[in-house]
Amino acid sequence: MNIAQLAETAQALVADGKGILAADESTGTIKKRFDGIRVESTFETRRDYRNMLFTTAGAAEYISGVILFEETLRQEAADGRRLAQIIVDAGMIPGIKVDAGAKPLALHPGETVTEGLDGLRDRLAEYAELGARFAKWRATYGIGPGLPSAACQDANAHALARYAAVCQEAGLVPIVEPEVLMDGDHDIDACEAVTETTLRRVYAALAAQDVVLEGTLLKPSMVISGADCPEQAGVEEVARRTVRTLRRCVAAAVPGIVFLSGGQSDELATQHLNAMNKLPARRPWKLSFSYGRALQAAPLKAWSGKPENLAAAQAAFLERARANGQAALGNWS
Ligand code: 13P
Repeated sequence: MNIAQLAETAQALVADGKGILAADESTGTIKKRFDGIRVESTFETRRDYRNMLFTTAGAAEYISGVILFEETLRQEAADGRRLAQIIVDAGMIPGIKVDAGAKPLALHPGETVTEGLDGLRDRLAEYAELGARFAKWRATYGIGPGLPSAACQDANAHALARYAAVCQEAGLVPIVEPEVLMDGDHDIDACEAVTETTLRRVYAALAAQDVVLEGTLLKPSMVISGADCPEQAGVEEVARRTVRTLRRCVAAAVPGIVFLSGGQSDELATQHLNAMNKLPARRPWKLSFSYGRALQAAPLKAWSGKPENLAAAQAAFLERARANGQAALGNWS
């Protein structure tokens, strides 16, 4: 394993004022997004939409890397260039979602474990050849009475650690993504408690598998009130509690923490990140973004499947990328 090279890639992904574009929606998820703008999801529309994002002039000033779905990693733009090469030529790093999705966890109704370890070593070798330099694996945890169970937390922590180890062996930086879902009416105390136990188990599992933290990134959810909780914690409280929890659980050797947006509005996701980076609390890691919806909601709407909207869609994407790049420095206003 080349630790120096892994660490260099991880650091490049959280370079000052930069974060990651998560454009790795599975075929099912991108269909849902396209349904929202009444565009049919086809091989060509998915290609053209994503090509629009990747060719946005100036995006690389704020976007360090792009997470792709497998189809996109193999796909060519209409001009014959591979989309992954377009990303590299623009000065960004291509990455790849490698999990096979969250599947029902046996004996635990309502809970999931993320699958995809079987055959992963061979797939990673191929992805590396296609140009991927980092990977992503997402585990999800719902909050409810008695949930998440210890079984769910252990199974997902183990899978995340096994994934991270095989990625490092293949020379890809693993982004470790334990997402505590915001669905439900739980308060922010519940989210903080679950986030803390989840992260502790994930880092114990990473240590047990001898994963080298310098060559990883963490992609967590923020500590926030449940979406249906009548009392919504404010921006400062979310920032303070999220950083407090991360300080308790994440070793200083981890170069960066890149948040998911998880269903927050794009503006709120930017405000939260900015507030965290403005806190006086000492932080040993970079705090940045790896947003999907919070970067794409505006350009997706502006695009709406029409080639004549390309410039407007790219302008909308650049605006969100710039706002989050500034928030990664605590400079957004
Ligand atoms: P959201 O920012 O839309 O939550 O997507 C990030 C992601 O990659 C989820 O796995």
